[in-house]
Amino acid sequence: RAVHLSDYQPFTHIVRDVALTFRLAPRATRVSATLRLAPNPARPGHHDLRLDGENLRLLSLRLDGQPLDLTPDATGLTIPAALLPSAPFTLHTEVEISPETNTALEGLYMSRGMYCTQCEAEGFRKITFYPDRPDVMAPFRVRIESDLPVLLSNGNPAGQGAGWAEWVDPWPKPAYLFALVAGDLVAHSAPFTTASGRAVALNIWVRPGDQDRCAYAMDSLIRSMRWDETAYGREYDLDVFNIVAVDDFNMGAMENKGLNIFNSKFVLASPETATDDDFARIEAIIAHEYFHNWTGNRITCRDWFQLCLKEGLTVFRDQQFSGDMRSHAVKRIEDVLLLRARQFREDGGPLAHPVRPDSYVEINNFYTATVYEKGAEVIGMLKRLVGDDGYARALDLYFTRHDGDAATIEDWLAVFQDATGRDLTQFKRWYTEAGTPRVKVWEDWDGETYTLTFEQENPPTPGQPEKGAKVIPVALGLLNPNGDEVLPTTVLELTETRQSFRFPAAARPVPSILRGFSAPVILDREVSPEERAFLLAHDTDPFNRWEAGRALAKDLLARMVTDGASPGPDWLDAVARVTFDDTLDPAFRALALRLPGEDDMAATLHGAGITPDPARIWSERRRMAEALARHLGPRLPALIDALAEPGPFTPDARAAGRRALRIAALSLMSRLDGGRAAATAYRAANNMTEEVGALVCLLENGLGQEELRLFETRWSADRNVMDKWFALQIAHAHPDQAVATTDRLTRHPAFDWKNPNRFRSVIGALSANHAGFHHASGGGYRLVADWLLRLDPLNPQTAARMSTAFETWPRYDADRRALVAAELARMAATPGLSRDLGEMVGRMRGA
Ligand code: ARG
Ligand code: ZN
Repeated sequence: RAVHLSDYQPFTHIVRDVALTFRLAPRATRVSATLRLAPNPARPGHHDLRLDGENLRLLSLRLDGQPLDLTPDATGLTIPAALLPSAPFTLHTEVEISPETNTALEGLYMSRGMYCTQCEAEGFRKITFYPDRPDVMAPFRVRIESDLPVLLSNGNPAGQGAGWAEWVDPWPKPAYLFALVAGDLVAHSAPFTTASGRAVALNIWVRPGDQDRCAYAMDSLIRSMRWDETAYGREYDLDVFNIVAVDDFNMGAMENKGLNIFNSKFVLASPETATDDDFARIEAIIAHEYFHNWTGNRITCRDWFQLCLKEGLTVFRDQQFSGDMRSHAVKRIEDVLLLRARQFREDGGPLAHPVRPDSYVEINNFYTATVYEKGAEVIGMLKRLVGDDGYARALDLYFTRHDGDAATIEDWLAVFQDATGRDLTQFKRWYTEAGTPRVKVWEDWDGETYTLTFEQENPPTPGQPEKGAKVIPVALGLLNPNGDEVLPTTVLELTETRQSFRFPAAARPVPSILRGFSAPVILDREVSPEERAFLLAHDTDPFNRWEAGRALAKDLLARMVTDGASPGPDWLDAVARVTFDDTLDPAFRALALRLPGEDDMAATLHGAGITPDPARIWSERRRMAEALARHLGPRLPALIDALAEPGPFTPDARAAGRRALRIAALSLMSRLDGGRAAATAYRAANNMTEEVGALVCLLENGLGQEELRLFETRWSADRNVMDKWFALQIAHAHPDQAVATTDRLTRHPAFDWKNPNRFRSVIGALSANHAGFHHASGGGYRLVADWLLRLDPLNPQTAARMSTAFETWPRYDADRRALVAAELARMAATPGLSRDLGEMVGRMRGA
C-alpha cells in the first residue's frame, strides 16, 4: 500500500489539453471532460491508460467519439491498450459528483452555500477521471454553468453570460493546481502593473459584509508581487489574480494558478478582529501562496516525494520577505521558535522522516514541519555555503533551466553545483536523512591559540538506524572579555564527525556559536550562566543574543524542575536589563521576556536523559514567572504606560512590537495585582491584540470569567473571532481543568466540529495545553482520541493531522506511555479507520 520514490516512471501518455464543463448542483454536479491525449515518447511501448478517479459516477465514456463500455474500480479507470490507438486521441468522460455531501473538503465541496475546490495533493481525482500526478501538465479550458453570480477558475476570463462563465489557463499545469469557485461573493479589487508593464486585475473575493476586512491582505499581495520582481526577478504572468476566502478549509491556503484559495482566517483582518500575530501571518501566507506562482506552479514537482522542492523554497522565500518587511532579527527568532516547537519535535519522535521522504502511504500526511520548515532551513544553509551571489546565480539558472518543468531535488542541487562549482554530494544528506543532528563543542585555549572542537552525532530515526556526517555550516563570532568582537561572523564548515578549528588569541575569547541559527541542529555545550549573561549583554548577533537569554532561562527552569533550584540574580538581572533597555527593539525585548514553553522544556529534559513531569514543568514555570514578576514589578507600571500607543491602530511591525512588550509586561503585572491592570486593559482595548492579550493575562491567573462572557456576547456572530474565544480558554486553562473545560465547550451550541478551524480551536487547543493534555488521569489523551475517531470518517485529512498530538509519547513516564499506547491501540483497532489516520497511528505505534 505504500508508494516508493524508487518506483517512479513517467506517465504512459501526455495530455495535450483539457476542456472541462461543470454544471453545478449541490448533490448532482455534472463534470464533462475532454482530454486530448497521446502516447508519451518517454515511455516506449503500447500501454494501458490508467486514469485516477474516486467517488465518481461515470455517466459516459467515449474515445474519439466512440462509446466505450468500461467499469471503473474503486480508485480509477483502466482503458486497455488494445482499445487505444498508437496515435493521438481524444477521450471524453462525463461524471456526476456531490459537492454538498463532501465532508472531507477535498475535491469539489461546498462551504456555506459556496462551491470551492482543494486539489492538492490528490483531490482532482474526486472531480473527474484524470492522471492525477504532478508531472502530467496541460493547459486547461473551463466552462462553469450555475446561477450563482460569481464563477471563477484558473487563468484568464474567456467570456461570460447569464448563468455561465469560461476561463482559459494558458500555462500548462498539473491537476493539483486546478481550482473552481462559485458563490455569492464580492470583490475587494486593486490594479497592479508588473515591472514589464502587464496590467493585472487583483481581486480578493469574500462574502458580502466582509469586503472591509480585505485591505491588509491586498496590501500584502501588492508588496509580495513587487518584492518577487526585485528580489528574484519574477513577474506575474496572467491578466488577473484572484484570491477567495473560504470558511471551511483543511489547511492555511492553496496556490492554485491564478486563483488562490485561502482559509478565511488568513485573509480577513481588521484592527478590531485580528491580532498583530494574525496580521503577520496574513502577510506571510499571502506572500507564500503568491511566491508559489514561480516556485511551485511555473516549476512544479515531478512527484510528491519532491514536495520540499516547492514548499521548502517557498517558505524560505516568504521568510526572506517577512524579514524585509519587518525585522530580520525578530523574524529569525520567531522562525527558530517554530522550527524547534514543531520540526525538532517531529524529527525526534516516531514520525521523523527526511525532508525528501522515500515512501508514503498517504501523501497528505507529509505536509509537515520537516518538509516545510526544515526544507527552508536546508535552503538557508545552502545559501550560506555558496554565498549570496552564488545563491542568486543558482536561482537564475533554476528559473531559466526548469521553467515549465516538473523537477526534482537532484535538478535543484544541480543548478547550485553548475552555478557555483560546489560539490553537493554530501550536502544532499540533509534531504535524504531524517533526525536533528546534535553538535557537541569543546574549547581549549593555550595562551596563544584558541581551539574549538566539534563532534556531530546523527541519531537513528525510524527506518534509518545509521547515517553519515552532515555538512553543517556553523556561523561563529568571537568576543574578547571586554565584549568587543575580535572575530566577526565566519562560517566554519563541519563535514566530518569530529573536527577542530584554531584561532590565534592572546586572551581567552568568548565564542558566539551558530549565529543566526546557521544550521538546524541541537548545540550541546556546557556554558556557565555568567557566559550566557555576557552574550545576552554583548553579542553583536541578535539571534545569539536572544538565544543566550533563552538558554539561561532553560538551564534555570531545568534546575528548578530537577533539583528545586530557585531563580537567582544572574537570570533575573539579565532579563531586567533587556526588558528596560530602550535602545533595543521592543519586539526583541518581548521575545526575550517570553519564558521557555512547557513542551520545549519536556523535549529538552528528555534529551538530557530526564523523564519530564508535565505537572511539575507547569508549576515550576509558573514559579519562574512569579519570581520574574516580583523582580521587575516596581518598574512594570511605568513600562506599561510608556508603551501605550496613542492614536489609531496600525498593524506595522513597530507598533506591533510595542504592543507585544506591553502585553508581556501586563502578563507579569497580572501575577502581582490580582488582575486589576489586565481587567482595565481589557475594557480599554480598541483592538483585538490588546483584547486577547489582556484576556490571556486574566485566564492565566484563573480569572477572566466575566470578560469571557463579554467577549462572547460581543463576537458571537464572527466565526474567526469566536475561534479565539474557544481556543484561549482551553489553551490557558489550569492543567486540572483543561479536559473538563474542553469537554464543556464541545457541548457549546457554536461548537461546529465539522468546521476544521473550530475543531482545531477546541481539540487542537487541548493538545497544545501541555500539562492539560498530558494530565496523569489520561483524560486528555482519551478526549482527543475520541474526537479524532469521530472526525475521521468525515474528514480524515484533518483528523490525521491532529493526531500528531500523540507523537511525543516516548518522552514520558511508563504510566503516560501506557495510557497513550492504549489510545493508539484503540484508534488502530477501529473498523474503517481512514488510510490517513491509519498511517499516522501505525507510525506512532512503531508499526
Ligand atoms: N500547497 C499549499 C501551501 O503550502 C498547502 C497544501 C496542503 N495540502 C495538503 N494536502 N495538506 O501553501
Ligand atoms: Zn506552500
